[in-house]
Amino acid sequence: MKHIKEHIKPYIPLLIASIIFIAAQAYFNLMLPNVMSQLVNVGIQEYFQKISAATGERARVLIAEQKEYIYKTGFKMLLVAMGTSLCALAVQYFNARMGTGLSRDLRRSVFAKIESFSSAEFDQFSTASLITRSTNDVQQVQMMLSMGVRTLVFAPVMGIGGVVMAMKKAPSMAWINALSVLLVLGLISCVYSLALPKFKLIQELVDRLNLIARESLSGLMVVRAFSTQKYEEERFDKASNDYRKTNLFVNRVMSFMGPTMSLIQSLVPVAIVWIGAEKIARSQLLVGDMMAYIQYSGNIMAAFMMISGIFIMIPRAMVSVNRISEVLDTQDMVVEKEDAVVLPKGRCDVQFSGVNFAYPGGDGEVLSDITFTAKAGQVTAIIGSTGCGKTSLVNLIPRLYDVTGGSVKINGVDVRDMNMKNLRDLIGYVPQKSVLFSGTIRSNLMAANPGATEDDMEKACEIAQAKEFISAKTEGYDYPISQGGTNVSGGQRQRLTIARAIMKMSPIYIFDDSFSALDFTTDLKLRKALKQNLSDATIIIVGQRVASIMDADLILVMDEGRIVGQGTHKQLLESCEEYREIAYSQLSKEEV
Ligand code: CTP
Ligand code: MG
Repeated sequence: MKHIKEHIKPYIPLLIASIIFIAAQAYFNLMLPNVMSQLVNVGIQEYFQKISAATGERARVLIAEQKEYIYKTGFKMLLVAMGTSLCALAVQYFNARMGTGLSRDLRRSVFAKIESFSSAEFDQFSTASLITRSTNDVQQVQMMLSMGVRTLVFAPVMGIGGVVMAMKKAPSMAWINALSVLLVLGLISCVYSLALPKFKLIQELVDRLNLIARESLSGLMVVRAFSTQKYEEERFDKASNDYRKTNLFVNRVMSFMGPTMSLIQSLVPVAIVWIGAEKIARSQLLVGDMMAYIQYSGNIMAAFMMISGIFIMIPRAMVSVNRISEVLDTQDMVVEKEDAVVLPKGRCDVQFSGVNFAYPGGDGEVLSDITFTAKAGQVTAIIGSTGCGKTSLVNLIPRLYDVTGGSVKINGVDVRDMNMKNLRDLIGYVPQKSVLFSGTIRSNLMAANPGATEDDMEKACEIAQAKEFISAKTEGYDYPISQGGTNVSGGQRQRLTIARAIMKMSPIYIFDDSFSALDFTTDLKLRKALKQNLSDATIIIVGQRVASIMDADLILVMDEGRIVGQGTHKQLLESCEEYREIAYSQLSKEEV
């Protein structure tokens, strides 16, 4: 609730305006039956008695007077009705301004917060859940606020005002109202006790349905390849049917409420007329008062129904409020220091000393005691079996995660002391999973360095060995890239992400298994071009193929989160058992 309070602050004037007009609307609503009862009591009944008692000239004057009175009171009724509509209009306006503005701010905050997340925080939420939280959940809150404010002001004024006015008109009939309210409350509590527990279930079933639909749609190729359509269909059918059954149950229960409610609503006036008629006959009650009484008892019942409606909405919206708060309350693990250091874009040495690392919530360390220096102007390669911690290691350099022990330094400055933007500007990073954004080849490359020229872009593509396939496309650099970059091949995508990193002209490059989808010739050409063109840069290459890293200046051999050997290819062949094993399994005797 803390966040909602914070976000509502700028909208307090709108909220107050809204409350004032809601109250005014309720007041006008209460006035209308009162004016109508005057019209009937005085304008019709009283004048009728006077006129029938009078004769001649006096009667004619009375008739004219009656006419005038009826017109005057009728006009008053018209004004009151117009007042109601104008207030309703104003309420609608202020509520809409407040609700949509607030939800925009809330969405903005959630999105900004998500953008500030490091990988550590991303691991806590699924992408789908983050999307729902910043759209659907925000909408729920918006709805609760605009509906809630209206009901919580309007209903009590109508309810209490209705009771007071009704008591004024005919105190002896109050028991009819009490009875009708009891009946309504009884009905509502019966229906809700049946339906309310199902609401939470429905939300969960919607989640499940979405999950299955998304999974089988995004994995459509796999489903086809393995011919598991039947299985997927059954899974979807089951989720869909569970949802249908629960919804059906809730709707059946709820549909019971409508007719019963209208039965009560029509029986109450019957009771009032029945009992009121006798009182009128005994001159204990005026006709107009009875008519007003009928309307007030309708108001009272409506107020109770509105309040009960809110009771369904609040638990649902609270779920959303909590889900939003979870995002906003997440503590960023990777934060920038107040007096962060800015390094110039020169030669950069990357130094790991005694680094330990464990994933937040993961079981145990995935990196222990990592010590090495990747020097500027040199190629440092990391090799090791899958899951030994290579990606985890390179992720520590741009601070996608923070070390749990030891330090990572650039030119002697701890990355945790550096300005975050400066740090990331220094690094050209090609992640293991190539990701492109929808747009064109040009927009993807230029995003890395908006200040780059056309020549820079062509140069980067030349180094990344991407130029050839780009010029083969008729659109060239304007070739459209679909979402996630699915309309280029794996190897092409990899080369584009390499070109994107090179565009940054940064002093440090990290290639995480970035040559895996390239054929040997292209791999060789690419590495040669890197060496020639980025001769001053610190290049860190993660690889699985000995052939693509054997000419590196420094090779680190990793096993289960530790460095088990470092040196050049020659040195390692002599000194490192693990390296020898990998090398002999991949290369022929002559190549080694
Ligand atoms: N891991 C984890 N949480 C993550 C990512 C990885 O707990 N968010 C664990 C993995 O289970 C693995 C270890 O960290 O045991 C090292 O993972 P990683 O650094 O990704 O290994 P790589 O050496 O990069 O493996 P690969 O060659 O397959 O890329
Ligand atoms: Mg990896």
